[in-house]
Amino acid sequence: MATHPKAPKFKRVPRHVAIIMDGNGRWAKQRGLPRIEGHRKGTDSVRATVEAAGETGVEFLTLYAFSVENWSRPKAEVDTLMRLLQQFLRDEIAELNKHNVRLQAIGRLADLPAPVGAQLHETILATSRNTGLTLILALSYSGRIEIIEAVQSVIREIQLGHIDPAQIDETVLSRHLYTRYFPDPDLLIRTSGEMRLSNFLLWQLSYTELFITPTLWPDFRKPDFFDALRSYESRNRRYGRI
Ligand code: IPE
Ligand code: IPE
Ligand code: MG
Repeated sequence: MATHPKAPKFKRVPRHVAIIMDGNGRWAKQRGLPRIEGHRKGTDSVRATVEAAGETGVEFLTLYAFSVENWSRPKAEVDTLMRLLQQFLRDEIAELNKHNVRLQAIGRLADLPAPVGAQLHETILATSRNTGLTLILALSYSGRIEIIEAVQSVIREIQLGHIDPAQIDETVLSRHLYTRYFPDPDLLIRTSGEMRLSNFLLWQLSYTELFITPTLWPDFRKPDFFDALRSYESRNRRYGRI
């Protein structure tokens, strides 16, 4: 992928970056604002990060936007998050097309309210011909549920006689995950300093490099993304070898 003249140069750029966008509520609380203001401001961070990823030549960017567990938040917050998501999907089509970004989504997409699901479908379709960055939104996502659904899907294939249980290996299981069309992330960024995975891409992150920053998601901008890439550049990925 072509890089942008203004973006810093890196010796080695991760093909796939995944981000746990965390800290919106705390950002708002620090300012005496309702949590939702943090979510609203966080959409500016999404815009900046998508641009930065495109400029540096990252091919896949997966953003953890809403977990299955997040449905347990107060209804008012869930409703507002869904409204913000729908607005983002509607209002960003032109910008995504301008930057040659193709939208994809992973998760239990059927759980989304119907208008959100319809807008998601529309934006995916409207950007499907773009050939630059692939932006993957994780929506109503759970790593454990993804693995359970993959196992169920493998079992159906066995029952249909399409595969022999003895053939099941990592490649076979990977082909039944939501992420079957994408490589595993090379770099995981988590904002707001929390040292946990929160049920994100449990299978896919097995050898991913981790970058945790105290920066809260609404404050995350291009320089923060470049910092993460600079850190990645210096990593020695051994995969258990020496
Ligand atoms: C991340 O920010 C956004 C979502 C999980 C949807 P939070 O809302 O989790 O913010 P904190 O972690 O409470 O600060
Ligand atoms: C992880 O953040 C989920 C998303 C960023 C969508 P949470 O705020 O939900 O995670 P926990 O509860 O701190 O683990
Ligand atoms: Mg949080």
